[in-house]
Amino acid sequence: MELRPNDWLIPEEPESPFPIVTNFCDIEFGFGRGSAELGIPTANVPLEQLPPETQDLELGVYFGYALLKRVNREDTTALRNDGRTVTYNYGKLLKETNDDLKIHPVVLSVGKNPFYHNKLKTVELHILHHFQADFYGAQVKFNLLGRIRPELNYNSKEALIDDINKDKLIASEILSRPNYLKYQKQVDH
Ligand SMILES: Cc1cc2nc3c(=O)[nH]c(=O)nc-3n(C[C@H](O)[C@H](O)[C@H](O)COP(=O)(O)O)c2cc1C
Repeated sequence: MELRPNDWLIPEEPESPFPIVTNFCDIEFGFGRGSAELGIPTANVPLEQLPPETQDLELGVYFGYALLKRVNREDTTALRNDGRTVTYNYGKLLKETNDDLKIHPVVLSVGKNPFYHNKLKTVELHILHHFQADFYGAQVKFNLLGRIRPELNYNSKEALIDDINKDKLIASEILSRPNYLKYQKQVDH
């Protein structure tokens, strides 16, 4: 696969500080632009629930595997900064028949989203699987196995989308290699 000018080299197998494995962490709402504007839904997880090594990662795009889990709670709602209400269904709509509760490849953004001028660092996961409903309040366990590129700023939404689509292709390709595939089981409960 062709490298873009800013791409990091991906080694034959995960190299320090990878792999980094999380515990199950809560999925919270972000600003909601991912799904609506970019067509790339992301699950946000709280930084403070991640292993300390995660704090030291450079801002950029990473990849690994992720596993979702439902949380047994009644729906609640939360008010987002932009005034919209978000329903937390705690993963009630996740379906076994759609393979939603299996392990899937994931691309992650560890960043400040310069395109959107965010101030705080966020960790967002885009799971490479087609979900039929959202799952705020569910939990996700994931690992980080390598890095793809630094976080960049873009002049247009289209350029950002193009690059994320390339990130997805790169992640799928690498994660299908045996040296990386074997780390799937790290997130298996
Ligand atoms: C794989 C991936 C790569 C991303 N790379 C960048 C980037 O280089 N620069 C940037 O400003 N935002 C990047 N983003 C973040 C998007 O801008 C972000 O998903 C968007 O701000 C939506 O966030 P929201 O759901 O909190 O609104 C990336 C997101 C993903 C999933």
